[in-house]
Amino acid sequence: MSRTSTSGKFNIKDKVIVITGGEGILGGTLATAFASLGAVIIILGINEESGTRLKQDIAEAGGRVEFYKTNVLHRDELTRVSAEIVRQFGRIDALINAAGGNLSGATIGEHETFFDLDPDDFRKVSELNLDGTVIPSLVFAEQMSHQKKGVILNFSSMTSQRAVSRVAGYSAAKAAVDNFTKWLAVEMATKFGEGIRVNAIAPGFLVTKQNRELLLDKNNKLTPRGKSIIDHTPFGRFGEPEELTGTVLWLISDASSFVTGSVIPVDGGFSAYSGV
Ligand SMILES: NC(=O)c1ccc[n+]([C@@H]2O[C@H](COP(=O)([O-])OP(=O)(O)OC[C@H]3O[C@@H](n4cnc5c(N)ncnc54)[C@H](O)[C@@H]3O)[C@@H](O)[C@H]2O)c1
Repeated sequence: MSRTSTSGKFNIKDKVIVITGGEGILGGTLATAFASLGAVIIILGINEESGTRLKQDIAEAGGRVEFYKTNVLHRDELTRVSAEIVRQFGRIDALINAAGGNLSGATIGEHETFFDLDPDDFRKVSELNLDGTVIPSLVFAEQMSHQKKGVILNFSSMTSQRAVSRVAGYSAAKAAVDNFTKWLAVEMATKFGEGIRVNAIAPGFLVTKQNRELLLDKNNKLTPRGKSIIDHTPFGRFGEPEELTGTVLWLISDASSFVTGSVIPVDGGFSAYSGV
């Protein structure tokens, strides 16, 4: 057993951390926090403007950061970027699969039913959230297998565990991410050793770009859906992006060395509550 102190086990200084969707709200929050702890942050995403801006902000604050415009669904792009990271930094310590989210076309309208769902939209949201987690894992876990060390952190959601109305495709994809997290954890540990761990967080409800219109109206007041969520959250509030940081730090650091295949809720008690 390692004799490193408890606080030492949380140390991520000089770790090379790849964050897909790192230019988004949650990925960006993690990127900024982990850069301030001395990690090297590699942001991969398709939004060049936000990625470039975030890179600049982190660098101005003294952080080490790169941004590569990369689509998580394009294996060839990811493979090129992986080779470039290894050439520049020598290894990849962590992959955070934060690219994803619901797509507005895949949301069943307030007055619609399942029979109004367009299978093409279902496929698109499924592809982004499931394939968009599997394909980067294929590329970066291969590098980790050579190193015999590395961690993967996936983004699940409360929609994978409890039925949340109107978002069938997103929910199905996130449920598949939970399953894939467990599957890959077992595959890596049994074939490459305990140095490679795979876990996920399942955030509860945070107000971000992808769900703002569903949760708040134009006057920033709760929609009926937003109110229902708050009523089913023991903390009685939405989460803040910064509230994911501690759990993710634990999961990507040696502090969680005996944890693999887990999906950890970060949800103000939503998943524990029966509503009664
Ligand atoms: N916001 C919430 O309440 C909440 C709750 C549970 C889970 N999540 C999950 O957290 C993750 C991050 O969500 P967010 O709220 O920060 O959303 P966001 O839209 O701010 O961030 C997602 C990022 O992914 C990028 N992206 C989209 N498609 C891509 C592609 N094909 N290739 C590469 N990058 C791509 C976008 O450019 C964006 O920057 C998602 O997986 C989401 O499903 C969010």
